Parts: sequence; structure tokens; C-alpha cells
Amino acid sequence: MLSEQVESTSLESNVTVIANRRTRKTETMNYVSLDFRTIEWVDGKVRILDQTRLPEKTEYRDLTRAEEMAEAIRCLAVRGAPLIGVAGAYGVALSAHSRKASSPERLKVDITKDIRMLGATRPTAVNLFWALDRMSDVLESADSVGEMRETLLSEAISIHLEDREKCEMIGRNGATLINDGFTILTHCNAGALATGGIGTALAAIYVASAQNKRVKVFASETRPLLQGARLTAWELSRNNIDVTLLVDGARGHLLTKGKVDCIIVGADRIAANGDTANKIGTYPLSVLAQKHNIPFYVAAPLSTFDLTAPAGEAIPIEERESKEVLFFGGTRIGPDNAKVFNPAFDITPHGNISCIITEKHILHPLLEESIEDCFRTP
Ligand code: MRU
Repeated sequence: MLSEQVESTSLESNVTVIANRRTRKTETMNYVSLDFRTIEWVDGKVRILDQTRLPEKTEYRDLTRAEEMAEAIRCLAVRGAPLIGVAGAYGVALSAHSRKASSPERLKVDITKDIRMLGATRPTAVNLFWALDRMSDVLESADSVGEMRETLLSEAISIHLEDREKCEMIGRNGATLINDGFTILTHCNAGALATGGIGTALAAIYVASAQNKRVKVFASETRPLLQGARLTAWELSRNNIDVTLLVDGARGHLLTKGKVDCIIVGADRIAANGDTANKIGTYPLSVLAQKHNIPFYVAAPLSTFDLTAPAGEAIPIEERESKEVLFFGGTRIGPDNAKVFNPAFDITPHGNISCIITEKHILHPLLEESIEDCFRTP
């Protein structure tokens, strides 16, 4: 299921990327191949793998309207920062294709409303707003109904393809930090299920494994929605990566055993100083990493950086419904009068992060200028 040299298929075909942007050397990507697709444009519809059903059911759903995409993002049927960006872009393409167009002006107004609706689904992952901004720019420059439909779809597919390429590059950069025999701890799901490609944190693991390095992974379950248990363990095990699940509270004990070589997580938004928002439970993990002197890596594309946020305090943190905490697998586990605090993300200060692995460079977040430089240089 996993190989470094694979035949390209559909979306992947004929994709040439600037693999080394510093030297502008151009090469064709050889993707690490995984055996499922999270999202795809098929005959005027968007086919998504419904992540709320995993691991019990591998169920695909076809979405035809922007409202359906907004709901899929809201309920985490599609989730993970880069994938939310790709999904938002496809949501705009659905809007262009499904809305009746009495005139180009009317269609533009309707699509603009749908862009706003898609942007109101989840506040933390900046990739959503980054992708919607790109779609808005394309909408602005289109004049006819046909042009709107064509260019918006083509932009959504570009965003998807670019994300695949970025995942591959993050994987290659990240794999340089992984030695043969490493044991890696990860949290939440920053894998293929969270992106349009092979993931961010898990991309480094997939590439290292494809390079014949033996790796073992510990995945923390990630209360309350269990992305680590339901999704990370699912995708790693079906791709033959040795994975062990543990409850979030067991991570400190695991680290005292001295068996973890590094921690790699994803990110939902990274401020200009390197402070990073990621799934709730990431910040305490970074504190444990410091205490036990274990490298703590964040893997994310540059589209996850928000240079308008000077530091972590400026990042909006999504708070979700109390029922996610009060129920477990449909069974009530807390009294109905209990108050609930359910933030979906926390902020890891840049001082706790050893480095940030991007598609371009490996950045040291203590050196703020390295982040700025990365955006300045081509
Ligand atoms: O609430 P989710 O499941 O969308 O949260 C996902 C995460 O926190 C991931 O770690 C992050 O988006 C990085 S995905 C490559």
C-alpha cells in the first residue's frame, strides 16, 4: 500500500512542481501512495470520505451544494486544517455549479454569500480563509457564468493539487529528522485524512517508512472526538505502520520511560512568532516534551501561517458543543446539568517548539526572522 515510486492517477497525473524552490529545479513528484482518497471532484459533485463514520465504516458521500459542504466541515465529516481549506474551495466550486444563474451578477452575489457561509463553519484553521480568499479573487475576475464555473473549479483543483505537493515536500523534509528505529509520538490526526495529500506530521512518517526506516508510532487518542484513535490509528495501521494507541493522560508516563525519540504534530494556525494552535492537548504535550528533553516538531504548510497574528493570543480558538464531552459513543457520561468547557484547540508557545517543518524549509520558531525570510524568498 505504501511505496515511494508509484504510478500517477487521475488528479495526480501530469503534475510537475518546483521541487526545490531555492534553485528553481523542476522535477516530477513521485507520491507516496495511500489507498484511500479524502476528497475528490467527480462529475459535478464532491465525493468525501465521511470521517465521522471511521473506523467502523469507510463511507463516501457525494455533496452537490455549498450548504452540504459547510455542514460536512462543521460536523467534522471533513476535518484537519489543510483539508478544510481544500473542502472550502470545492464548496465554492459547488456553489458556482449548483446555483441557478439568472445573470452573472446574480450568480456572483449568491457565490459570495456561500463563501461567507463556508467561512463561518470553523474559526481556527486559517487554511479555510486562505483558500476562500483565493476563491474570492478568482470570482472577482470572472465575468460570465461559464467563466465563473470553469475558473472556480479549476482554482479548487489547483488548491487540492498544490496541497498534495506540499504534503509530499513536508514529508521529505520531515523524514530527514527521523532515524531508522525511531519511536514517534503524535496527537490528533495530521495525516492523509487531514489533508489533500499524505498529511503533514504523518507525511514525515510515511516518507521515512518508504525510505525503509523502521518507525514505531504512539498515537494519543485525542479526547473528546478521538481523532487519534479513530483516524490516526486507522490510517497508519492500514498502511502497515506500527502504531500503538494510548489515552491522552498516559503520555507523561510514556515519556518517563525514555522510549520516545521525537514528537511530531500538525497545526491549525501558526502566528508570526511561531506560536502554534493545534488540537486541544498539544500544549501539555509540548510541556512534557520540554521536561523530558524530547524534540517537539510541528509540521504544516505555509498556508497554515497567519502573519497577521503576531502571537498565539490573536488566534481564535473554537469552542464546541457540550454534548461532545457529556457523551461518549452515544452514552451519557456526565450529568445533564454539568457545565462544560470544550475548546477544540490550544496554543503551544514557540519556545516549546524545536522546529516547524514546512514544504519549503525546516524553520526554527525562536528565530522570528526565519519565518519572515521563508515568506520573502521565492
Ligand atoms: O478538529 P480537527 O480534527 O479538524 O483538528 C485537526 C487538528 O488539530 C490537526 O492536528 C491539524 O488540523 C493539522 S492537520 C494536518
